[in-house]
Amino acid sequence: MSVMYLRGGRPLEGELTVHGAKNSVLPILAACLLAGGPVTLSNCPKLTDVTTALDILRRLGCKAEQEGHRIVVDPTGAEGNAISEKQMQAMRSSIIFLGPLLARMGEAHLTYPGGCELGPRPIDLHLAAIRAMGCGITEDHGIHCAGRPAGGEVYLSIPSVGATENAMLCAVGASGVTTISNAAREPEIGDLQSFLNSLGARVRGAGSSTITVEGGRPLSGGEFHIMGDRIVAATLLSAAAAAGGRVRLSGVDWRHLATVLSVLHQAGCRVESRLEHVELERDRAIALRGVPTVRTAPYPGFPTDAQAPVMAALAVSQGCTLFVETMFDSRYRHVPELIRMGADITTEGRVALVRGVERLHGAKVEAHDLRGGGALAAAALGAEGVTVLSGLSHIDRGYEGLETMLQCLGADVERREA
Ligand code: UD1
Repeated sequence: MSVMYLRGGRPLEGELTVHGAKNSVLPILAACLLAGGPVTLSNCPKLTDVTTALDILRRLGCKAEQEGHRIVVDPTGAEGNAISEKQMQAMRSSIIFLGPLLARMGEAHLTYPGGCELGPRPIDLHLAAIRAMGCGITEDHGIHCAGRPAGGEVYLSIPSVGATENAMLCAVGASGVTTISNAAREPEIGDLQSFLNSLGARVRGAGSSTITVEGGRPLSGGEFHIMGDRIVAATLLSAAAAAGGRVRLSGVDWRHLATVLSVLHQAGCRVESRLEHVELERDRAIALRGVPTVRTAPYPGFPTDAQAPVMAALAVSQGCTLFVETMFDSRYRHVPELIRMGADITTEGRVALVRGVERLHGAKVEAHDLRGGGALAAAALGAEGVTVLSGLSHIDRGYEGLETMLQCLGADVERREA
């Protein structure tokens, strides 16, 4: 088991290009099942969740290799229709394979997905979308779907990111036109639409609440560049807000970070947003200020994935900040760890009240989920002394070499075998 040692107190300085987005590459890898020939993807992050997605593709009979940040998938020989329980348990996003698998094979056998422990994360909307396209589903020691999907009306009662993507992918392989209403509007859905259209699909409306898919068109292979990871950017900016200094990040579109930048600006950071980069500066001599309520919401609201890192920065501030987590039930698992570092935070249900303290101190802490792990690293860099962070397997699901990125920005961080 490895752990991260982080010595706080040194401001972050420097420039970094943010790696490709986990939440974009995973649905796009699932979409490769629908391609008519080999697909080459660039800017793919090296993450354990990506390795899991490649394993699933291989099990289904695709050729799938990652070399550096390039992935080549050849789905030509795919003939499997089942995903193993182990692969389904390894990450929640394995459910994204349901739509394209069914569209390609007319049959799909899966179990319930695992993933970060954020409270109950049902898949009822995914299944309802598949049913709306005329396929039968039996839930009996797993999920068994059969039938050739046909275009239909999919209405999502919650704008679920995964269910929107699953519906899009199933609809691309379905005969006829599908309309997805109350669709999620996250930028990664736009990336998926661009990828599908680059193969010859006809998908419109990503970024709005209504997505229309003209299904059944023959798709080719192709090449595609994965968008940058806005949540990795939010984590690094939060780390700079906590530690002080000045960082410049490129490879992400600042407009996708607007709500996060607004909170960090209200807290007293200088933020500069340009087409080609986003820069954050914080003078360590001046304390951050608590900000009025930070309420997570579907895009374009404040991202639930940035809640923990921003909370880590605001743990050391003058005044209070109220966080309201509207997306998931158990998304405060980093709070007891921050308290171990000296933070003053009270939670009740989906609300957390952060009373800013003057300083945090290093401690032994553990990441219990992916973004909570990024948050603890951010907090550690603003704290006095050394923090020993364990639970790195969570962090490696979504940050490619977090310690290397932080070192690039001048942080005193290393990963060691415990
Ligand atoms: C995606 C992101 C994740 C992010 C989340 C919310 C990926 C790979 N992951 O996760 O990083 O935190 O969006 O922005 O893109 N829900 C149901 N039934 C369903 C599906 C979802 O009730 O069938 C609920 C969930 O419990 C949750 C809400 O809908 O409360 C939003 O979840 P969803 O948007 O589906 O999240 P994911 O796609 O799993």
